[in-house]
Amino acid sequence: MHAILQHAELYGIFGYPIGHSLSPLMHNTAFAHHGLNAVYLPFAVPPAQVEIAVKAIRALHIRGVNVTIPHKQAVMAWLDELSPEARLIGAVNTVQLRDDRLVGYNTDGIGFLRSLEEAGSEVAGRTVLLLGAGGAARALAVQLCLAGIQRLYLTNRTQTRAEELAAFLKENIPHADISVVSMKGPSLSAHLPHIDIVVNATSVGMHPHDRMVLPFADLGPRHLVCDIVYRPLHTPLLQAAQHQGARTVDGLGMLIHQGAKAFEIWTQRSFPIPLIRAKLSGALAERSTAGPAPNQR
Ligand code: ATR
Repeated sequence: MHAILQHAELYGIFGYPIGHSLSPLMHNTAFAHHGLNAVYLPFAVPPAQVEIAVKAIRALHIRGVNVTIPHKQAVMAWLDELSPEARLIGAVNTVQLRDDRLVGYNTDGIGFLRSLEEAGSEVAGRTVLLLGAGGAARALAVQLCLAGIQRLYLTNRTQTRAEELAAFLKENIPHADISVVSMKGPSLSAHLPHIDIVVNATSVGMHPHDRMVLPFADLGPRHLVCDIVYRPLHTPLLQAAQHQGARTVDGLGMLIHQGAKAFEIWTQRSFPIPLIRAKLSGALAERSTAGPAPNQR
């Protein structure tokens, strides 16, 4: 732990529970790396206290806050301003206190795109199959459409949720080309030969008994397969994809890069990515022996 001096700047994360968050490790490592007199703390904020907690950001002059499950939507009611992405995604994972105003951002989608760039893949012009229609899927879908992918196929266990997400995206991002594909039957197999990037934005993979519906046998070398789950890091989907010769991107990159973007917003400095990756890999290896934990920022 780096020294916390007088007049240290305060940062933190609001969630409930918050014990498993890896964000304090990432941001405190980055503060120490840059020699900044700042500290990042985890705050377990019960749902009934969210309003008070957000107002405390200004009262205590907390410079920046990350927000995680279950508060990403709730905090929005007490912010002064939202970034275009946060508005479209309908959730905030980063708050900055700027000129006494609380500004909300969502860096999840950007973090995902940067993790692909780091792995050498651009998304512009590509056809993407996105599994899921919850909050995480929405963040990725919005950012993928803004980044100029050619076509987005959405699929979800509860198909009506995918249809609702598709309708929202078409209305709000007019150039987006979006279709909903059934998770049941042969539809997914039929589409896979035309798809470049497959992204799991469901929680499947976190629990050993969950079964992924994707037809693994139809994955192959043309596919880049990404999983946003990072506990475990080598999900059954990624293992199967590698077995079929597909390239893969695990969920650690998105975790790191959503944090990196938040850090840039707050400090105008970059994350020391290799150092943070090494620290997180160590922490995850340590914790994997302690049983399942949520995929929480
Ligand atoms: P988050 O905000 O983290 O995305 P969420 O809104 O609860 O969380 O969404 C979880 C996603 O995982 C949903 O797409 C969910 O599918 P449903 O909309 O049908 O619930 C998906 N999911 C969770 N468990 C699943 C399972 N066992 N099989 C398939 N999809 C699953």
